[in-house]
Order: sequence, then structure tokens, then C-alpha cells
Amino acid sequence: MQFYNKYVWVTGAAQGIGYQVALQFVDLGATVVGLDVAFNENEHYPFETTTVDISDSAAVKATAQAILQRYPTVDVLVNVAGILRLGATEELSVDDWHACLNVNASGPFYLLQQLIPVFKRQASGAVVTVSSNAAHVPRQQMTAYCASKAALTSLSHCIGLELAPYGVRCNVVSPGSTDTQMQRVLWHSPDAEQRTIAGFPEQFKLGIPLGKIAQPNDIAHVVTFLASDLAGHVTMQDIVVDGGATL
Ligand code: NAI
Repeated sequence: MQFYNKYVWVTGAAQGIGYQVALQFVDLGATVVGLDVAFNENEHYPFETTTVDISDSAAVKATAQAILQRYPTVDVLVNVAGILRLGATEELSVDDWHACLNVNASGPFYLLQQLIPVFKRQASGAVVTVSSNAAHVPRQQMTAYCASKAALTSLSHCIGLELAPYGVRCNVVSPGSTDTQMQRVLWHSPDAEQRTIAGFPEQFKLGIPLGKIAQPNDIAHVVTFLASDLAGHVTMQDIVVDGGATL
């Protein structure tokens, strides 16, 4: 598996899963453009970084067009950026609902709108979208998150159908609990109700047949595989990477 002379865009590349995805593509020889709303100023990123809020459609359009001026070819788009908002449905603020939907589902839509003409013109490319096993299984306190991820998974499959005649593949990776900042927010939530729902790491592990929480690399390996020629006949699939936590 190698990505020499390939151009790979990764959203959410500042940390967590997106960062590991970007690193793996760098190691495999790709030219990587990382996009994120907040890169850490003290971190040295071994790939190009572009700051953009993917929930801002105008900003996404301007950013995508600027990158395309420099790199007119896009071989792989990986949608990783996402946010979590917790709250029982009747208590969830409208702002949190919109934030989740806007970042997790609309953001990838805005970016795909910019890149679909490129993929069609090239008649090649691959899109890998990091959704969640929460797209399949309802979770307490996670109404907005689950709904946004279900929308994202469906978006990916619809685009896969549109792009299949052009030879462009679109697949989903659905992680379960993964050791990142997002997950630590759940583990260390000071809110008792959230703690009951989310549990602590040991409780998490109980529900995972493989008995461990994923590391970001576990997710990134599946992303790079799906983006590679090894998965050349795989499209519109959803690979759940959660240690067997859900069927
Ligand atoms: P994280 O919080 O460590 O990283 C998310 C990244 O997305 C951050 O760098 C953040 O700045 C960026 N981001 C957030 N809003 C953005 C915006 N508006 N525009 C551009 N970038 C933005 O989280 P993690 O765990 O690495 O999550 C990555 C993806 O994996 C997310 O889509 C998440 O929903 C999904 N996921 C994570 C799981 C976990 O247990 N950590 C489980 C299932 C799915």
C-alpha cells in the first residue's frame, strides 16, 4: 500500500483520529493537506495545515478553491472532523443540535460539493468518511450526535452512488470508543448523569468483546486501506471498528 504522488485531504487533522490518519498517509508517501478549525500552535505537523471551519460553507468553498489552485488533483478525501454535544433531547439546546448537525453532516457535504466536480473530471478518487457506531445504535444523551452521524453515513452512501459511474469509491469507517480528546471528555465529565451514561474506561471495556478501547491508529489503518487500491472494488460500505461492541 503506497500513496506516492497522491494528494490526500484530511479534515480534523489537528489531533486524535484525523491526526493519525494524516500521519499514516504521510508515511505512505502522500502529499497531505490537513484541514482543521484549530491547529495547535506548539505542535509541528509533518504535513501542510489549513485552518478552516468546515461548518462555514463560504469558508469551505474559498479554502477548497485555494488549495485546488495549488494542487489540482485530489486522490483521497478523508472526512474526520466532528464534535460531540451531550444532552437529553428535551434539554438539548437548539444551538447544540445545530452545531452537531452543521459540523458532522453539513461540513462534509460542503466539502464534497467542492470536490465532486474534481473527482468526476479525474474519473478517479476515493472518499473515506469517519462516522460512528452511534449512527447505528441509539445512545442516551447523544441524540444530536447520533442523528448527525446517521445523516453523515447516509450522505456518504448517496455520494457513493452518484460517483460510482466515475470510478470514485466512497466508504465509511464507524469507530466505537477511541482513545482521543473527544472520548476523554466523556470519561472525565464532572456531570454525574453523563458519568452514569458514559462510564469510565473500565466500564467502557466491559461492553467491548475485544476488551480494549481503540487507539486512533486502529481507525487510521482501516481508513488508509479503504482509500488504497487494495480496496479497489469496495464502495458504499461501512466498516465498524469497535472491537465487536455492536453487530
Ligand atoms: P477529537 O475531538 O480529538 O478531534 C476532532 C477534530 O475535529 C479536532 O481537531 C477539531 O478541532 C476538529 N474540528 C471540530 N470542529 C471542526 C470544524 N468546525 N471545522 C474543522 N475541524 C473541526 O475527536 P476524535 O475522537 O479524533 O474524532 C474524530 C472523528 O471520529 C469525529 O468525527 C468523531 O465523531 C469520530 N468518532 C470518535 C469516536 C471516539 O470515541 N473518539 C468514536 C466514534 C466516532
